[in-house]
Amino acid sequence: MIRAIDIHKSYFDVGKKLSVLRGVSLEIKENEILCVFGPSGAGKSTLLHILGGLDVPSKGNVEIQGKDLSKLNEEELALLRNQSIGFVFQFYHLLGEFNILENIALPAFLKQKKRIGFRNDIYKRAKELVNLVGLTERALHMPKELSGGEMQRVAIARALINDPRILLCDEPTGNLDSENGINICNILKRLNKENNTTIVLVSHDENMKRMATRTVFIKDGLLN
Ligand SMILES: Nc1ncnc2c1ncn2[C@@H]1O[C@H](COP(=O)(O)OP(=O)(O)OP(=O)(O)O)[C@@H](O)[C@H]1O
Ligand SMILES: [Mg+2]
Repeated sequence: MIRAIDIHKSYFDVGKKLSVLRGVSLEIKENEILCVFGPSGAGKSTLLHILGGLDVPSKGNVEIQGKDLSKLNEEELALLRNQSIGFVFQFYHLLGEFNILENIALPAFLKQKKRIGFRNDIYKRAKELVNLVGLTERALHMPKELSGGEMQRVAIARALINDPRILLCDEPTGNLDSENGINICNILKRLNKENNTTIVLVSHDENMKRMATRTVFIKDGLLN
């Protein structure tokens, strides 16, 4: 489903080179739940962004469903991301001028932009997802009125709106209490079981690690 081959990522800052990823290779099979963990600054978010085509490696390739991302143009890449990948960002990235339901629905509107008749179906699905993450009462609130954990749950619902084949989650339970954390864990587990969704998550949560079919540790830019 996802293949990363010898991924390097470096940043240059006032002539100094910071090597974040130093040759990461990884194959993630369909239906797998891979949990990546490691110290802060180890490059977990960087790796997840590269796997999801949101960032480009300095060296190496990523293939998703057999497609080499470096060979896609911007439009093809955007289409692949919109149709096949759900991304839960570590810092949510909700749009402040839209309410919760609209935030969740947005990727579906982008996908269906030419078919206006889908509007009601999209909102119906967005409402199901808002219920699924336990935020029914908050559907019409604005992001700034929510707590961190609530925004995180909105971000998860938004990542699911297009029924992605691949779900990439960056610390999806990082700001949740244990009850909501277990709830999200169960949602992801069910999604994997019922829809065969491939899941890659960055997490230190023991429940997540237990649920995963494989865990990898990242340190000093390498996996072990
Ligand atoms: N755009 C950037 N420019 C320069 N350095 C960056 C940039 N983005 C990330 N870094 C650096 O790369 C390293 C890895 O960052 P990354 O966010 O991937 O870590 P992480 O493992 O996700 O950490 P955390 O657990 O704190 O979320 C850090 O040292 C960070 O400062
Ligand atoms: Mg991170």
